[in-house]
Amino acid sequence: MLSDYQHISVLKDEVLEILSPQPNQNFVDCTLGGGGHSEELLKQNGPKGKVLAFELDQRAIAASKTRLKDYQDRLIIVHKSYVHLKSEVKKHNLDKNISGILLDLGLSSDQLDKTNRGFSFKDHGLLDMRFDPAGQTLTASDIILTYSVSALSKIFQEYGGEKMAKRLARGIVSWREKHPPTTLGVVKQKQNQAIKTSMLVSVILQILKISDSALKKFRIHPATKVFQALRIAVNAELYNIQAVLPQAIEVLPKGGRLAVISFHSLEDRIVKHYFRSLLGSCVCPPSAPICRCGQKPQVKILTKKGIRPSSQEVKQNPRSRSAILRAIEKI
Ligand SMILES: C[S@@+](CC[C@H](N)C(=O)[O-])C[C@H]1O[C@@H](n2cnc3c(N)ncnc32)[C@H](O)[C@@H]1O
Repeated sequence: MLSDYQHISVLKDEVLEILSPQPNQNFVDCTLGGGGHSEELLKQNGPKGKVLAFELDQRAIAASKTRLKDYQDRLIIVHKSYVHLKSEVKKHNLDKNISGILLDLGLSSDQLDKTNRGFSFKDHGLLDMRFDPAGQTLTASDIILTYSVSALSKIFQEYGGEKMAKRLARGIVSWREKHPPTTLGVVKQKQNQAIKTSMLVSVILQILKISDSALKKFRIHPATKVFQALRIAVNAELYNIQAVLPQAIEVLPKGGRLAVISFHSLEDRIVKHYFRSLLGSCVCPPSAPICRCGQKPQVKILTKKGIRPSSQEVKQNPRSRSAILRAIEKI
């Protein structure tokens, strides 16, 4: 494990109980991160069971490779987005030969606290936010420096639930117009321009007219929602979730399970609605004497209300507080 890689896996026991790994079963971990969930699966699915793991962040891959070196003959790490689930499962001859799939959405504590890649309003790096800087082109700086008022406002509103979305979008564009890149202390990075994370924070505070002394009164930092929104936009996070869920159902055999941990309501809503859509309730008009739509349930929901971390887990790892785990079994 990279000695300074930091992430505490969330809802580990609950995930294990749902996926219930048995000897020689195969699993897919769509979001390897520091390898905490994969490690638990690998401890229990030996001697021949495999884990196929997706991860975009090279730092996480390096950390996991070290942590999971004892399992390297049974761990397949794919440095690609989990949206390639179906093709990679086929490539590794695991189609319909998987007992469970895990998605632990969002970002790791390491990305938030350690990488200085602009994920946190507290860090000192450039406003970047790409999970995979080598493979993705669009950065959060690109969005801030080039998107129109309406595009920025839409992102802040839809992905951040930011009530001041329009005011912030207008303020950012007018700040941009008054300060051409050369006076912004903008750093040239290959073809992209990038501003510092701290610069966006100070612009947000200026637009909202929040002084340093007033800042202490806020329970959450006023830049939090804009940062969440930019991260979701840069990494197409909601699109990715929508793209992977049907693939997961397709590659699982009957009895196979899918577990998803979400960290905010936008993610959870997509998961919840998709799971419900698989229940296949009859859509025939109430007047129809017999069912003709043929809709049949494809899954059984294993977590009616979703599972939240225990108060003990939240105490030990406050970042787990917003997590919610939902799971289904293919029938
Ligand atoms: C919450 S962390 C996972 C932590 C992991 N379960 C553990 O126990 O250490 C989420 C990880 O998913 C990765 N990730 C996010 N979007 C991804 C995508 N589309 N494809 C593959 N990995 C992704 C992030 O880089 C991050 O490392």
